Amino acid sequence: MYYPEDLIEEVRTKNDIVDVISGYVKLQRKGSSYFGLCPFHNEKSPSFSVSPSKQMYYCFGCGAGGNIITFIMEYENYSFPEALRFLADRVGMDLPEQEYSKEARAQQDLRASILEVNKIAAKYYYYQLRTSAGAQGMEYLRARQLSEDTMRQFGLGYAGKFSDGLYHYLKQKGIGDELLHQSGLMNVDEKRGMYDKFWNRVIFPIMDVNNRVIGFGGRVMGDGKPKYLNSPETKVFDKSRNLYGLNIARTSRKKKIIVCEGYMDVIAMHQAGFNNAVASLGTALTSQHASLLKRYTDEVILSYDSDEAGVKAALRAIPMMKEAGIRARVLHLEPYKDPDEFMKALGAEAFQERLDQAQNSFLFELSILEKQHDMQDPESKTAFFKEAAKKISEFELEVERENYIEAVAEQYHTSFEGLRKMVLRCLMQGLPAKPEVVRTRRNTEKDDGLKKSQRMLLTWLTEYKSFYAVLKPYIGPEDFTNDFYRKVAGILFAQLEEGTLNPARIIDCFTDAEEQRQAAELFHTMVPVEKEEEMKKAMKETIGKVMEASLEQRSATMDPADMGALQQVIEGKRRLQELQKLHISLE
Ligand code: UTP
Ligand code: MN
Repeated sequence: MYYPEDLIEEVRTKNDIVDVISGYVKLQRKGSSYFGLCPFHNEKSPSFSVSPSKQMYYCFGCGAGGNIITFIMEYENYSFPEALRFLADRVGMDLPEQEYSKEARAQQDLRASILEVNKIAAKYYYYQLRTSAGAQGMEYLRARQLSEDTMRQFGLGYAGKFSDGLYHYLKQKGIGDELLHQSGLMNVDEKRGMYDKFWNRVIFPIMDVNNRVIGFGGRVMGDGKPKYLNSPETKVFDKSRNLYGLNIARTSRKKKIIVCEGYMDVIAMHQAGFNNAVASLGTALTSQHASLLKRYTDEVILSYDSDEAGVKAALRAIPMMKEAGIRARVLHLEPYKDPDEFMKALGAEAFQERLDQAQNSFLFELSILEKQHDMQDPESKTAFFKEAAKKISEFELEVERENYIEAVAEQYHTSFEGLRKMVLRCLMQGLPAKPEVVRTRRNTEKDDGLKKSQRMLLTWLTEYKSFYAVLKPYIGPEDFTNDFYRKVAGILFAQLEEGTLNPARIIDCFTDAEEQRQAAELFHTMVPVEKEEEMKKAMKETIGKVMEASLEQRSATMDPADMGALQQVIEGKRRLQELQKLHISLE
């Protein structure tokens, strides 16, 4: 960080969060907070809250959150210093000029520097495409029927025939070799030194949900190999946590998100009006992708290529979606290979029809299973139904199972009752077949429950002045079982101890917007009770739960010969008993 903490604090306190955000979002007072429609995801009823007392915002829908600096960074797509300058200007404060000396630059946060280099490179490629040197690239993209508007929206560019164009350009901008290396834009070898990774390719800049360029994909114009070249993972480019096109799809105001395989599929779909399409970045879909999607939607349409690899990819993706709580359906594009080809051949209307007919993911899995069995042979056919029954038995709800029994019996011409008996038998044999999956789910549920309890304590500490005195004899920062929580708790407890509660200042301890969002989440946990008596009861129970988990963890990791540690555990148990007698007063 290059500005002193107190200066940051001054800028922040002069910019009241409700004041500033009101300029962007229509806010209405509700109790002690203000609510409005979240500017970071699609919604029809307001779940975006702004708290004047905490000087923080938080969206209960998509989890966006932070203080006013985070908000400006996210909304205006600014870096931390840019956001700070913007807010200082707003209240007529002069910030000292930043030094751009070599030393200062070396100290600058590496992530911010790589993002800056990426931005310059994206502009360079973009410009190249639109000069005579880029004519071949332009011709290629036009031949693929992309409009000027589409090319602009996706920031498409071109890397020229010479393999040092970008290198010289960035050098001339004063960027050092080490940073160039870290950006992933350069290759290095002993003979040639450093040179451009991308040349003679059309360039697809890859943006994160906040429209920051985090990496690049480049396609050869013709049949060269490899067809696509992608940036390697860098400090800012994590392929398993980003999806191409999500920056646009998340504001598309559509309920579903279409997941497809390639950059060109996404672009073709957006051009045809399906601007809710995304793709993974030259890798298979991961469970992190699924959690990312869950922030924006409850239903996904898998739109993979209609070849064997596409079917495999869909079969892999379905359980991940399910695990993340997303419904999945599968799009059929036959006889065309991918959405791009389909769109060119039959157009948007026909595509919409296929979308409406997208297949339920369970029935899709079953249709693949059917292909693996000879349905003319009674033995093989029976095996198919056994397998199907086992899969149906994995559904948690009885109505869900009954619905699937009905659908499967009808589609595969067998008796409802017969299939139902098979499903019941599977249930009685103690299936579902994957106990380890079920077990991990339970474990995560327990873990999530504990984390929520810890978040509730942190939320109460920021909302009720007298809660700290209640909590202090029982719980300290070390009782928070997760590293990040413990760190935030440490700062919060220190503030409370000094009597200078200032949650928004805690956000400034983290320069990364994602960490700022996570910190804000800790102070915005909903408690499902309103009456004061119920609230006090919930407080007591939550303190107990967190103490218990902390004790459990401590005794599990304790060295049995360590008398001091043993003493502490015994003392903890005694205090846990004492807690029963606690009478909470919130005056
Ligand atoms: P496809 O080969 O299906 O790409 O690969 P596509 O979008 O249909 O390409 P066009 O239409 O021929 O231009 C799907 C995705 O897999 C990754 C890329 O992300 C691509 O978009 N891929 C493919 C690579 O990373 N490297 C390759 O060599 C090929
Ligand atoms: Mn294609």
